[in-house]
Amino acid sequence: MHILIVDDEQAQRDLLAGYLKKRGYTVSIAASGKEAIELNRTTGFDLVILDLKMPEIDGIETMSRMRKVDPQAFFIILTGYGTVESAVEAMKIGAYDYLGKPINLDELEMLIERAHEDQNTKREVELLRQEIDEEYETGSVIAESRKMREVLAMIARVAKSDSTVLIQGESGTGKEVVARLIHKTGLRKSCRFIPISCAALPETLLESELFGYERGAFTGAEKRKIGKFELADKGTLFLDEIGDLPLTIQVKLLRVLQEFTFERLGGTAMIKVNVRLISATNQDLHQKVSEGRFREDLLYRLNVITIDLAPLRERKEDIRPLAEHFIHKFNNKCNKTIKGFSKESFEKLLRYRWPGNIRELENVIERAVVLCRSDMIAARDLPLETSAGSAPEEREALRDVEAAHIQRLLEQTDWNLSETAKKLGIHRNTLRMKIKEYDLKREDK
Ligand SMILES: Nc1ncnc2c1ncn2[C@@H]1O[C@H](COP(=O)(O)OP(=O)(O)OP(=O)(O)O)[C@@H](O)[C@H]1O
Ligand SMILES: [Mg+2]
Repeated sequence: MHILIVDDEQAQRDLLAGYLKKRGYTVSIAASGKEAIELNRTTGFDLVILDLKMPEIDGIETMSRMRKVDPQAFFIILTGYGTVESAVEAMKIGAYDYLGKPINLDELEMLIERAHEDQNTKREVELLRQEIDEEYETGSVIAESRKMREVLAMIARVAKSDSTVLIQGESGTGKEVVARLIHKTGLRKSCRFIPISCAALPETLLESELFGYERGAFTGAEKRKIGKFELADKGTLFLDEIGDLPLTIQVKLLRVLQEFTFERLGGTAMIKVNVRLISATNQDLHQKVSEGRFREDLLYRLNVITIDLAPLRERKEDIRPLAEHFIHKFNNKCNKTIKGFSKESFEKLLRYRWPGNIRELENVIERAVVLCRSDMIAARDLPLETSAGSAPEEREALRDVEAAHIQRLLEQTDWNLSETAKKLGIHRNTLRMKIKEYDLKREDK
């Protein structure tokens, strides 16, 4: 801990400095406020012990100027005449504590130790907060396209209710992101979000994961296990890949959903939980119902509200913001400073079909960030198969981009057609035709 002592009286300075050095602290001294401020320009201190009454720049002034440079430091104010008012004044502008003269050295040391601890806690909290912010940042949802903004509006509405939600979308379209967002912005945000994938586990394991078991329920059950349903009590249970749920468990799940009560495997006690259910699938559940592989009654229970996530190729306006978001993410992770995309490489991103959607985009960008040899990602950094038969698709992509661009300008000008046409450099009638052709509509605010 580096301590600065600021006092105009040499005897006092030397006494304190000698004492604290003996105690193992690193100590610097300054004979005036001015000197302290100068010193602080080049050196950071953890703690400043500061005489209140000094000629020229007094303690309070010194402190407020030092705090501007170094908001981390803690200040202990020494008050000569026991003037409580000025001490109070110092506390008001952010001093850590004050001490009356003559100084009781034991008291001072205790104070320093306490300050040291508080400082550590404060730093930890700040670190934690930063982590949370970053987590939130990387978990932030990008939604530029009209389709995604509609999804966001929908999420805002369902988050305020407690109804069961089914999220449908191809793999990698952000189903889990949406589920978490519903939870995070909803009524249950202070309780837990428990995800479980119905595809990853064999049937018996899945059942015990969901409902838990008692000791001795089967060979190997040495301890009681609390299932996900119980863990999610008062919070949200996210059943991922619900389409892969085996029929036997579908029956059990349905029964639980009627009453929200169940028994742990091998147990007799009825357990009641209060859980919000969100499920997700990349399969066509109605199709599975007609094939007899998914229970219709379960589908209706799960599917009170449906959120459909469009594949990335149907919301190309999201490609740029997502890609830039991922550059930022992997710049941080890989210590790179890539600024963006060359024109050619970005066109490649637009043309590609993205069968793996956002997850695939994320992987592609990660690889490009790692491989990229300049500060712009080049086409060769993106190994994307844009198949030979892609000419109609390319045209499709261009149309999407044009439609999105026109839509944006229209919104910007509040649907002023002349102004938009002028910005686009086309005639008003041409604009009218394009609006009709692309079926553009004014967005709800
Ligand atoms: N709108 C978005 N904004 C930012 N990142 C997103 C968005 N949607 C998805 N992602 C990112 O894309 C990746 C895939 O998202 P997620 O896991 O939610 O998709 P999924 O539909 O559950 O995929 P899968 O079917 O493969 O499980 C994640 O890393 C996620 O952070
Ligand atoms: Mg998923």
